[in-house]
Amino acid sequence: MPITQQNALVLPQKGADFVLDTAIPVPKPGKEEVLVKVKSVALTPADAKLRKFGLIYGDYPGILGFDITGEVVELGEGADRFKVGDRVFYGGNFVNEYCGFQEYALADQNTTMLIPSTLSYDEAATLPVALWTAYLGLYNIIPYGLALKSILDDGGMGAYEGKAIFISGGPSSVGQTAIQFAKLSGFTYIITTASAKHTEYLKSLGATHIVDRDIPVAEIPAALKNIVGSLEIESAYDAIGDADTSLAQAMAAIVPGGRVLTTNPMVVFEPQDGKALSRVNATATIQHNVEPLRKLAVRIPSLLEAKSIQPARIEVLPGGFSAIPEGLDRIFNGQVSGVKLVIHPEDTA
Ligand SMILES: NC(=O)c1ccc[n+]([C@@H]2O[C@H](COP(=O)([O-])OP(=O)(O)OC[C@H]3O[C@@H](n4cnc5c(N)ncnc54)[C@H](OP(=O)(O)O)[C@@H]3O)[C@@H](O)[C@H]2O)c1
Repeated sequence: MPITQQNALVLPQKGADFVLDTAIPVPKPGKEEVLVKVKSVALTPADAKLRKFGLIYGDYPGILGFDITGEVVELGEGADRFKVGDRVFYGGNFVNEYCGFQEYALADQNTTMLIPSTLSYDEAATLPVALWTAYLGLYNIIPYGLALKSILDDGGMGAYEGKAIFISGGPSSVGQTAIQFAKLSGFTYIITTASAKHTEYLKSLGATHIVDRDIPVAEIPAALKNIVGSLEIESAYDAIGDADTSLAQAMAAIVPGGRVLTTNPMVVFEPQDGKALSRVNATATIQHNVEPLRKLAVRIPSLLEAKSIQPARIEVLPGGFSAIPEGLDRIFNGQVSGVKLVIHPEDTA
C-alpha cells in the first residue's frame, strides 16, 4: 500500500509557532519530478526569517525546510535522471510540497543533485542552498550575479589567476562555499572577513587572507592595499547581506567600475562612485537561475567526489522535527558559529 499521509512540521498561521501535523498528504510527483523520502535537512537563516516575519509565498499552513536530502522513492512522468533508491540533495523551492520539514517532498529532477558515495546525508544537507547561492552569485548574469566566467565552462577553472576577490562573511555557509568556488576560479587573492577563530578553517578552504569582521568600512581600502598592493579589486561577494556592515565593506573593497554581489535581494542600498550591485535570489524556479542550476546539478557530484567543494561542519540536533524551533531560534539570534544544524525526520518521536 502506498503511503498517503505523513508527518510534517507546519506553521499554522503568521506569528503562530510550529505544530506537528500527522495527516499531511504525501504529494505525487509530476512531470520530470521525483518524490523524495527526506533523510536529513539542514536549518537555514531563510527558515528562521520566514518563521518570524511570515511566509513570502503561498498561504498558511506553511511548510519550510530548504536544505534537503533524501532517497528517491517514486518517479514522475519523464523523470529519467534518477532511479528509485538514489540519494539526492536539493534546495526547497518555496512551495509546501517542495520543502523539507516533512517526511516526503517533491523535487524537480533537473536541478536535483546526486549525492556521491563520499558524502553522508548529513554532510550533503549542508550544501544545496549555499551551493546555489554561491554559484549563482559568482557566475550568473548581471544583475543577478557577478557574471564571472563559470568554472563549469571551458577555460573557467583557474581563469582569474593574478586577480583578487573580496568576500565579506567567509564563515557563513554561503561564504565558505563562495571561497571554494573562488579558489577553483583561480583567484590569487581570496580575502574574507571573519572573526579570528575561523582563520585556520577558512584558509583550509582556500581563503588567502582574513580581515577582522568588525573592521570599520573606512579602513577597508588601506587594509586591502597592504595585502594586494596596487592590484585593483573588481569583484566582491557580500555573503551576509547587511547594508551597513558586510555590504558596505564589500563596496569599499572594489574600484570604481567594479561590482558587488549581495545575498540580500531586498537590501536598500545605492552604490556610489561608479560601482554596481547585483543581487542573488537562489530560488531554482526563477527563469535566469534554471539553466545555470541544471548545469551545476550535472557537474557537482564529481566536484564533491574530488573534494574540490567540501560540505560544511555539522551539528546534528536530536529529536527530529521537534528540535527545529529551538534550532531556528539559535540561528535567528546569531548563536550558531561556523556549523550547520541538521535534523532527521526519522528521529521525530
Ligand atoms: N538570496 C538568497 O537566495 C540567499 C540564499 C541563502 C542565504 N542567503 C542569506 O545569506 C546570508 C548568509 O546565509 P548562511 O546560511 O550562509 O548563514 P550562516 O551560515 O547561518 O552564517 C552564520 C555565520 O556567519 C558569520 N557572520 C555573521 N555576520 C558576519 C559578518 N558581518 N562578518 C563576518 N561573518 C559574519 C558568523 O560568524 P561568527 O561565527 O563569527 O559569529 C557565523 O559563523 C543570510 O542573510 C541568508 O539569509 C540568501
